Amino acid sequence: MGVSSGESSRRAGAASVSDVPVEDRYFMLVEAVQDYAIFMLDPAGRVTSWNPGAQRIKGYTPEEIIGQHFSKFYTPEDIAAGKPARELETAAAVGRTEDEGWRVRRDGSRFWANVVVSAVHDASGALLGFAKVTRDLTERMRLAELERASEVSTHVQIARENEQKRIARELHDDLGQRLTALKMSVALLEANLNKQTATAPLAAQTHELQTQIDWMAASLRRIAADLRPPLLDDLGLAAALDWLVEDFTKRYRVRASVHLEPAEPEFGEFAATALFRIVQEALTNVARHANARRVRIDLVCDGPIISLDIDDDGVGVALDQPPAKNSFGLVGIRERVRQLRGTVSFISSPGTGFRISIQIPADALA
Ligand SMILES: Nc1ncnc2c1ncn2[C@@H]1O[C@H](COP(=O)(O)OP(=O)(O)O)[C@@H](O)[C@H]1O
Ligand SMILES: [Mg+2]
Repeated sequence: MGVSSGESSRRAGAASVSDVPVEDRYFMLVEAVQDYAIFMLDPAGRVTSWNPGAQRIKGYTPEEIIGQHFSKFYTPEDIAAGKPARELETAAAVGRTEDEGWRVRRDGSRFWANVVVSAVHDASGALLGFAKVTRDLTERMRLAELERASEVSTHVQIARENEQKRIARELHDDLGQRLTALKMSVALLEANLNKQTATAPLAAQTHELQTQIDWMAASLRRIAADLRPPLLDDLGLAAALDWLVEDFTKRYRVRASVHLEPAEPEFGEFAATALFRIVQEALTNVARHANARRVRIDLVCDGPIISLDIDDDGVGVALDQPPAKNSFGLVGIRERVRQLRGTVSFISSPGTGFRISIQIPADALA
């Protein structure tokens, strides 16, 4: 806390601030404050004093700004709207006014400010000028914005998951039922055609139709399960992961295994969905990038911190490059882990496989 003024250095011999005359003490206080711009205006709005906090926040030295009109600190829009003058009028009329909004620094950059203007009167009530205290709230506003953005992203994710669930149900229940009915009709037709030798070639064609319907039903089941595995809602995460890993092994011929401790961990729907989607994305990456022979998924939930590790023996990757523009897989994993208040690391280098290591507080998974 450097107090640098001629006034205070003359008092350098004082042992403590209580030895300093009270008016000098106020001066020292204002000079010591770094986090607030504290300055005075004359009744016309010209700057008459300037503390180091003001210099730090707004960028002007006292020499540059004293005597200048304070409307400099406002945006062109605010100036055009007559805001600076109105603030002084209000402060003069009612004693004080407070505002939050954009202000402009010396270099033209903007910051989000909380500004309090107080009118200063002499003993007879005549207006001497104004005291202004300005705080830079940009960081706080950024934090609030980030919080808001992450809330929105959680909502979007939940909405998307619900929508996928709905589409998966419709595909399965509605379209699935109709396909089953169609298959039965064609089977009946085939049986009828088979009874008459003259129509035998038609019977072969209807048989072909049946095969096509079977393919369609299988595609439909696969699409619905990719959208939202029914097992996740009906039997829980352990069953859904088993299904995922089995399906993955079949599709890509990469040996995948799941190890759960305990075997049937209990999670809330949000957490179970998040963990499932993380593993699903990790496996998609293994299929796409790893050229691996095996991948192992370990989920250990026997303490206050649960850990999820997904580890493959593939080609690995150098992780020091920034992620590609359209790569959202690892970013999505990070976001889901963050929503569960956990931490994630990606561990890899060329030739050493790829590992995702996640820790999440158990109480975030209920
Ligand atoms: N299991 C893995 N093995 C090797 N490289 C991987 C693996 N997982 C991810 N990567 C690398 O990390 C990058 C980013 O992954 P991701 O964010 O999922 O984006 P995308 O899969 O769309 O490329 C990939 O492009 C790939 O280079
Ligand atoms: Mg990916």
